[in-house]
Amino acid sequence: MDLEAQIDEKKLPKHIAIIMDGNGRWAKQQGFLRAIGHQNGTKAVRETVETCAKINVPYLTLYAFSTENWNRPKLEVETLMKLLVSSLKKEIKTLQDNNIKLNAIGNLESLPKKAQRELQDVISKTKGNSRMTLTLALSYGAREEITKTIREISLKVKNNLISPLDIDERLVNDHLYTNNLPDVDLLIRTSGEQRISNFLLWQIAYAELSFTDTLWPDFTKKHLFEAILNYQNRERRFGKTSEQL
Ligand code: FPP
Repeated sequence: MDLEAQIDEKKLPKHIAIIMDGNGRWAKQQGFLRAIGHQNGTKAVRETVETCAKINVPYLTLYAFSTENWNRPKLEVETLMKLLVSSLKKEIKTLQDNNIKLNAIGNLESLPKKAQRELQDVISKTKGNSRMTLTLALSYGAREEITKTIREISLKVKNNLISPLDIDERLVNDHLYTNNLPDVDLLIRTSGEQRISNFLLWQIAYAELSFTDTLWPDFTKKHLFEAILNYQNRERRFGKTSEQL
């Protein structure tokens, strides 16, 4: 039986997050410049986005650029920003055709103005779409997000808008960039690295982790289906015993 047919629609992860890693190594293996790896990474982005929408995963979040990625050589940062702008221009049609809403998280003001404008344009044009929410993490770092949250909540306490006793998990959650998204169910990282790299630290508290050696430009729907099937075979206990579930 093909992989897709084995997926149990009733046990789909509601929120899949992906650390798309290995573009540079993919390019090096083929004797190309790193930029070509990123370019080919966009093809894997399109296939993954379309497949998730097709099988009815409601939330997909992609780690496209981390706060630490600003430290890469200037030329590579520029390439990634250009790729972001050109992909947004090109893929708005894919988003509309598949009824996908675009969302972005991260310190978006630090992006080049052109990228900010393009992003806001696609976000506003797709805001009425409802099949899936695609979130791009851009200039995103979980520690920055949590720090921002603490700063905002502290200000509210200082201004007597809330009391320290009002601070609970829900309030913290409401101040994260992801306040409109559910917790991550399945976190996938490609390229063989097994770490989180400052991605969605709060939101992955109970996520199932899936690591594959496949480099991001080689990631296809087959790898996605494998990750989902593997997820569906796990028992998520959320701290309870097997018998309580
Ligand atoms: C990791 O590979 C990938 C990135 C830092 C950027 C991800 C970007 C894309 C897939 C293309 C643009 C995305 C969108 C949404 C338009 P790496 O460079 O860290 O690879 P390496 O670890 O092998 O060097």
